[in-house]
Amino acid sequence: MDICVVGAGYVGLVTSACLAYLGNQVIAVESNPERLHSLQSGGVPFFEPGLEEFVKKTSASGNLTFSDNLTAAVQKAQVIFIAVGTPSLPNGEPDLSQVMVVARAIGGALDDSKRRIVVNKSTVPVGSGNWVEMLVSQGVAKAQKSAKETVPASSGRSEGPSFVVVSNPEFLREGSAIADSFYPDRIVVGSIDEQATAVMKNLYKPIISQTFEAPSFAPRPAKLETVPFVVTDLASAELIKYSANAFLAMKISFANEISGLCEKVGADVKQVAQGIGLDYRIGKAFLNAGVGWGGSCFGKDVSALMQVAKEYSYPTSLLEATVAVNDRQRLVVIKKLQEELKILKGRTIGLMGLSFKPDTDDLRDAPALTIAYQLLKMGASVKAYDPVSNDVCKTLHPHLDIVYAADVEDLASDCDALVLVTEWAQFKKADFKKIAKLMRWPLLIDGRNALDEDEIRACGITYRGVGC
Ligand SMILES: NC(=O)c1ccc[n+]([C@@H]2O[C@H](COP(=O)([O-])OP(=O)(O)OC[C@H]3O[C@@H](n4cnc5c(N)ncnc54)[C@H](O)[C@@H]3O)[C@@H](O)[C@H]2O)c1
Repeated sequence: MDICVVGAGYVGLVTSACLAYLGNQVIAVESNPERLHSLQSGGVPFFEPGLEEFVKKTSASGNLTFSDNLTAAVQKAQVIFIAVGTPSLPNGEPDLSQVMVVARAIGGALDDSKRRIVVNKSTVPVGSGNWVEMLVSQGVAKAQKSAKETVPASSGRSEGPSFVVVSNPEFLREGSAIADSFYPDRIVVGSIDEQATAVMKNLYKPIISQTFEAPSFAPRPAKLETVPFVVTDLASAELIKYSANAFLAMKISFANEISGLCEKVGADVKQVAQGIGLDYRIGKAFLNAGVGWGGSCFGKDVSALMQVAKEYSYPTSLLEATVAVNDRQRLVVIKKLQEELKILKGRTIGLMGLSFKPDTDDLRDAPALTIAYQLLKMGASVKAYDPVSNDVCKTLHPHLDIVYAADVEDLASDCDALVLVTEWAQFKKADFKKIAKLMRWPLLIDGRNALDEDEIRACGITYRGVGC
């Protein structure tokens, strides 16, 4: 099938490469010249495990190309994915300007050679399917008007381009994006158009029935035979995406709320989480207490959901509490530093990790940034080391007065405390005996409860976790 994917970020690029791997002809349209240049030269403009090799391989097969020519890509395609960013505005509403530009441009590019399916893969508020349909129609009308002005009216009557908008929310996680795309828990398509849902089902057939050859670096999970294909109306598909992220964020905030209580009563949140997570109705995932959730999706999707509810004067107490607990939780490590060191002014604190989670260089809404800003505001000196995002942080946050370390031992040198913020695998294997000797004061606050506390204590380091 001929596919056009507009936006070659985390979602667009992974979707493009996976669909190309499955045998489709994919053109990924990217408007950022630097990103496009990097992609056309065989690079990937952000860190995602395995993606660079995978993109190289699918490009070499001839199934994946990159372009900034949206018109040509749209005209060739049967299915057009919108996968541009929808970041939060300061008031919490999603900024839909990228979607607006792209939807109108798609309308302007459509011809009447075939019926197109325009797919909203970007995370957009409820009602956006109808809104995108309106914008595409506006693009069509504008193009038809300017065509009439330049070419005299012909006797033949054209019906105009035919298209339908469907919602196909994305659930991939950065850090495991390719495996998540090949082996998703479900594929959701929101549309009441039977032809469109049939085309989407056909496009995803190799994933639904797991008939494709699994790439060597992303083996198929044992026993996975089929992936549920869930067809809903447009609004329900849009709400599924927001609700899923809100629920996951709420689960983490719940664990964090309980972790505070654990500290008061002398319980251990890891044991509590294990005990409640074994209940199949609850599940073990996303019950880890720590410095809270971040990243490009949870915060913006929870606030966008609250904004939708606000439009209907519908109260969202649970969502508000989810955000409030998370805001409070980010600073819990500062409270622990104060408890141990008393005075933070003049102290040097080393942050282990910057990205919002391991295996990504994404710093959007990363707890490390909140912690660094707060420590600097309090008069401490901040060092940081992240295996992949030191340079990204330097570039994106030039005013953040952080001293970047070359590795974890360089980070520990002359620190009064270390704070584990991102649970990268290499931190778990660090030489804590050596680290203890390098530190000015051997204190480690484990903001993810990810390290072996007995091993760290045995190295002479004071260990403080969260909720224990
Ligand atoms: N990142 C994730 O983990 C994730 C997961 C699920 C859903 N989503 C959703 O998917 C959407 C995309 O997220 P992302 O993280 O990939 O964003 P991103 O910012 O990494 O990528 C968006 C890309 O679109 C490009 N773009 C913007 N306007 C364009 C235009 N007019 N023409 C061509 N390209 C254009 C940008 O240059 C950028 O490369 C968002 O709505 C997000 O909420 C993201």
